[in-house]
Amino acid sequence: MAITLSTPKNVTIIPRQPNLTFNDLPRTFIKGNPVLTALFCSLSAVFPPGERQFINSVRYYQDQVTDPEMKKRIRAFIGQEAHHGNQHEVFNEKIQALGWRVDLVERQTTFFNKFIKRFSPQRQLAQTVALEHLTALFADFLMNNPNFLGDKPNQELKTLFLWHAIEETEHKAVAYDLYQQVVGDDKLRTREMKVILPFFMGHMIESTWLLLHKNKELSDRSGWKEAWQQLVGKDGIFTGIKGELQDYFSADFHPWQQDNSKLANEWLGELAL
Ligand SMILES: [Fe+2]
Ligand SMILES: [Fe+2]
Repeated sequence: MAITLSTPKNVTIIPRQPNLTFNDLPRTFIKGNPVLTALFCSLSAVFPPGERQFINSVRYYQDQVTDPEMKKRIRAFIGQEAHHGNQHEVFNEKIQALGWRVDLVERQTTFFNKFIKRFSPQRQLAQTVALEHLTALFADFLMNNPNFLGDKPNQELKTLFLWHAIEETEHKAVAYDLYQQVVGDDKLRTREMKVILPFFMGHMIESTWLLLHKNKELSDRSGWKEAWQQLVGKDGIFTGIKGELQDYFSADFHPWQQDNSKLANEWLGELAL
């Protein structure tokens, strides 16, 4: 299959290091809501082991790529994901100190990864492609709805999640293009989305529950109500990404069929990265 190099010309995949310290982070850092905060803690806890697995799945095939531009993009993808993992580790240490038991979530994710590593390299890459699409949709939602983090979020928190969103957008087609070149099996690609999406969602729900349970905050009714609206309400994140999630199952899908490069570049300027 031909190499697909379809990242827009105004996008350069650059690994950046914002070096955030999170010294002034409040305990309930998303809108003062423990449920939404626990959800973001869960997300941040799965990033370091999850992104290591993304890198791992791409590295199986890295040597088969001969096109210099594609090689460059794969190296930049690995660099970005490695920095994301490192910066989220710093963040996770801080939120752990604030009382969120993210070590338990990270341990679970590491255990799941050991299981996933027993799958064929094709399956592992297909799962990365699926999760990269999901991540890119979350990223797009966040860049369009930064108030999801609160009206006046902690500045370093905002930089962390929007920097991550920008770079997820920049490299959103790298694993997909590699997959099309070295595996190219569309049935496997869509089947693995059907496997990994419910698994990932289940892991997020269970981890959020666990973190709230450990902090004895499971019964925060107003917190749950607000979280429900933010997730599946009229303007909620899942309501917002539903259509584009469906696009993944069409045979002519490509991550850049939704060109949000302008938005990513605007955020680069806004955050002065
Ligand atoms: Fe990432
Ligand atoms: Fe990514």
